[in-house]
Amino acid sequence: MKRIGILTGGGDAPGLNAVIRAAVKTAINEYGCEVFGIRNGYDGFLDENGITPLGMNEVSGILPRGGTILGTANRGNPYARKVIRDGREVAIDISDEIVKGIEKLKMDALLVLGGDGTLHIAHELYQKGAPVIGLPKTIDNDIGGTEVTFGFDTALNIATDALDRLHTTAESHHRAMVLELMGRDAGFIALQAGVSGGADVILIPEIPFKFESVMKKIRARADKGSMFSILAVSEGAKPQGGGQIFSRKGDEVYVPRLGGIGQRVAEYIDSQGFESRVTVLGHLQRGGTPTAFDRMLATRYGAAAVRLAARGGFDRMVALQCGEITDLPLEEATAVPKRVRLDGDAVITARNIGISFGDE
Ligand code: F6P
Repeated sequence: MKRIGILTGGGDAPGLNAVIRAAVKTAINEYGCEVFGIRNGYDGFLDENGITPLGMNEVSGILPRGGTILGTANRGNPYARKVIRDGREVAIDISDEIVKGIEKLKMDALLVLGGDGTLHIAHELYQKGAPVIGLPKTIDNDIGGTEVTFGFDTALNIATDALDRLHTTAESHHRAMVLELMGRDAGFIALQAGVSGGADVILIPEIPFKFESVMKKIRARADKGSMFSILAVSEGAKPQGGGQIFSRKGDEVYVPRLGGIGQRVAEYIDSQGFESRVTVLGHLQRGGTPTAFDRMLATRYGAAAVRLAARGGFDRMVALQCGEITDLPLEEATAVPKRVRLDGDAVITARNIGISFGDE
């Protein structure tokens, strides 16, 4: 193994730089490899300035930095890249050019740090001959085959801190405070932050809710003298018999953008005569320095991915299972997205301590 490439695709997540640093150090220290970074996801292969050497100097000091020093793109699907043809915007397939780019650069392995979309593309590029290895990145924690993705713990801590802060103002003003959290179709952030931050109601995509049940919980608290309530609402939560709420429609390049359910819930609470406010935590969940857990996990993933490359373990993803780093086929990891288990102990525990999921 002489040359390794690294790219970061999809939405950023805290820990990307920690992975890059660990992979570069392991590749140089253990295997004497040259390492190249690909800028802005798969797009870097098509850009004349898209490839940059990564040595010890380039990764010095980046461990605690959020974002990615390589840049990323979440419209970087090489099978549907937007270009202007004859004055019109069209989506074209540039996957062959990417595979040729990898061959031209004589890369023995390409480490792909991404969520389900980016990893799915990596698997397809492998079938065209690209020596890819996947690393599970996303604050949503929704990738199969691994207990946890890097970035999730940091987002969870930021969301929990936000709930703590909302608590004090909710109590002072006797209000229901709704916090809308990210996570797409998985409720891990809202569930775990909700439990850790003492929420009274948690709404997640996996458990469709009834507005009346949410109100029942708020009223029950008021009847016992607690005139405020805290609601952790996942952006993908939906009412029973209704659909998710989007702030922007999708197309063949962009996925639809979720957003607005927190406002809908707050409006309902207001309409029932109980004052409420909504906070959308948004990209604060993705920014800033990773937690120690994410730095450690990212470092373990980065080093393990290089060891896997040295063994020729292509088309596989590094993962955490039973606390140990392992790896599994990319196809298996991306086949079924991970969701909150309704019979899992986190949901049962939340119900045990009186948290409402708005379903009873
Ligand atoms: O997948 C990560 C994520 O932050 C989701 O939780 C969220 O729905 C989405 O990305 C937001 O994407 P964007 O950065 O394009 O607004």
